[in-house]
Amino acid sequence: MTERAGETFRTVVELHTDERVDSLTPLLRLAFPGPFEAEVVEQMKQDDCRQMSAVLLRDSVEGDPQIIGQAYYCALEVEQSFNDEGYSLGPMAIHPEWQGRGLGLQLLKESLNILADDYQAGWVAVLGEPAFYSKAGFAPASEFGLKCHYPVSPKYFMALELRPNALNGVSGYVRYHSAFGDPEEIPVEPE
Ligand SMILES: CC(C)(COP(=O)(O)OP(=O)(O)OC[C@H]1O[C@@H](n2cnc3c(N)ncnc32)[C@H](O)[C@@H]1OP(=O)(O)O)[C@@H](O)C(=O)NCCC(=O)NCCS
Repeated sequence: MTERAGETFRTVVELHTDERVDSLTPLLRLAFPGPFEAEVVEQMKQDDCRQMSAVLLRDSVEGDPQIIGQAYYCALEVEQSFNDEGYSLGPMAIHPEWQGRGLGLQLLKESLNILADDYQAGWVAVLGEPAFYSKAGFAPASEFGLKCHYPVSPKYFMALELRPNALNGVSGYVRYHSAFGDPEEIPVEPE
């Protein structure tokens, strides 16, 4: 939680509900150039696999708390079986009016702490910008022996252990929820 000039910014993580997801999609449509990310969470919410939505709330004297950021976590498979402790992170976004003030990093770090402390998450994988995610401790997933089905440069596929050695004995291809795109339909083998 941070306080600035009478405003409080705090992170709340909860098991996803249709209602919560519906409150996130307008933000996703604003923060990303196209509808893909909003459609991904709309599709994921229909599945009953483990999913968590993290929101950054802005409390002020002006009215109800406002959602100004969100990060979505979803159970993932490693080599075709669900990993009990692992989550994919994404999409993640801060409302355009609130970007560049350290709030994205606040949401990322706080949601990871809550995921570990309250939901016993062991590790998280993300496909994204290393300059941002490395600030919360993410490292190339290849260092843990994890590979990505999607045809992206390996530097964009990162992982973080929330519990020491959570990735010991875990290796191979990580499969995101099919809402992100079915890897079977992507013929390019990553390096
Ligand atoms: C990416 C995003 C979530 C970051 O949130 P934010 O509140 O703007 O970022 P912060 O102010 O917390 O940035 C923290 C640090 O990360 C860096 N950073 C933020 N976004 C970055 C990016 N896309 N690429 C490289 N570095 C980035 C900042 O420069 C800052 O560095 P500093 O501490 O050295 O000054 C936000 O800009 C966003 O929603 N963008 C549009 C949606 C998107 O691209 N999401 C996917 C991210 S992979």
